[in-house]
Amino acid sequence: MAKVEESSKNFSLKEYPFPTEEIPRLSINNPETDRRIAAGLPVVIEDSRLVQSALHWDLDYLQENIGDGKFTVYKSKNKRFQYFDDKKIDSNKNFQKPMEHLDLTFPEFVNKLKTAKPGKDRVYLQQALNEGVGKRIVADFLGFNWSWVTEQQKKNKFGPLTSNLLLIGMEGNVTPAHYDEQENFFTQIRGYKRFILFHPDRQSQFKCMYPYPTYHPCDRQNQVDFDNPDYKKFPKFKDAKGYETVVGPGDILYLPMYWWHHVESLPDYGHTISVTFWYKAGPIGNIVYPLTPQQKVSMMRNIEKMIHQALNDPDEVPEFMQNMVLGRYTEPPA
Ligand code: OGA
Ligand code: FE
Repeated sequence: MAKVEESSKNFSLKEYPFPTEEIPRLSINNPETDRRIAAGLPVVIEDSRLVQSALHWDLDYLQENIGDGKFTVYKSKNKRFQYFDDKKIDSNKNFQKPMEHLDLTFPEFVNKLKTAKPGKDRVYLQQALNEGVGKRIVADFLGFNWSWVTEQQKKNKFGPLTSNLLLIGMEGNVTPAHYDEQENFFTQIRGYKRFILFHPDRQSQFKCMYPYPTYHPCDRQNQVDFDNPDYKKFPKFKDAKGYETVVGPGDILYLPMYWWHHVESLPDYGHTISVTFWYKAGPIGNIVYPLTPQQKVSMMRNIEKMIHQALNDPDEVPEFMQNMVLGRYTEPPA
């Protein structure tokens, strides 16, 4: 069992078949915190008070105050909640949805969460906070430490805030590894989440992570099952090296754009509540060479999308891409 310190707690964590380093856990006043955010490196901030006004949230309070709209809830027969893009399903006939999408009222969700039997039919609420919420939630929301987060947005030239996603998960729920195309200040309100991150670098990590093709509904998701890696199909996963941390109530994880992340709600601490602060990428400005790993990933995605669009048939893409490479270029250095 690996050990990771979160404040004074000692968690016993499942071992994965790759090494990890711990993500630094720093004070908001430590200059190194700002340096890491400016450099696009993950950091856990333990005393930001960013969501202090929401630390009293629990299921009863939310049920009373969150309003009677419908909430996006995913239901999974196992612990994995792998995201997929509905819009890409039609062109992938053999695709089987890894989880079910439900629209539930908050009490319906709470009922499912409370009556779920371990190992069966797990649920995970993932809903952007919007105007439909009640007055007290609005007040809590306005009480977030907007001055700090907005200053970070300005200093680091992030684009506009796109959403604050509310996540309410059952203990043991897993969001398999993927990357997002936005900057994220991820805040934890209740329970504990273990994050395992991988650098977006094309040389060191991207090739170990085997993302689905861009036209696949699971675009941006890793194809390897961390619990049972298929090394025949994914041999380079053996070279993966991660970073990890556990976040608890009041913590922020700065999750930079394009960094891979695998997220697990730790067992034994009850359900988890989290809120994201997602920001679009800022303007690119002048291109400086060499390109950053993030820019290279973005470029690869765009080329792949362009080829797919031009061929107009997903089945033709793999062979086309292979023909482009095989025989034409020498082997890259090992
Ligand atoms: C994210 C994310 C998953 C989770 O915030 O980008 O992938 O389970 N979260 O918290
Ligand atoms: Fe994510």
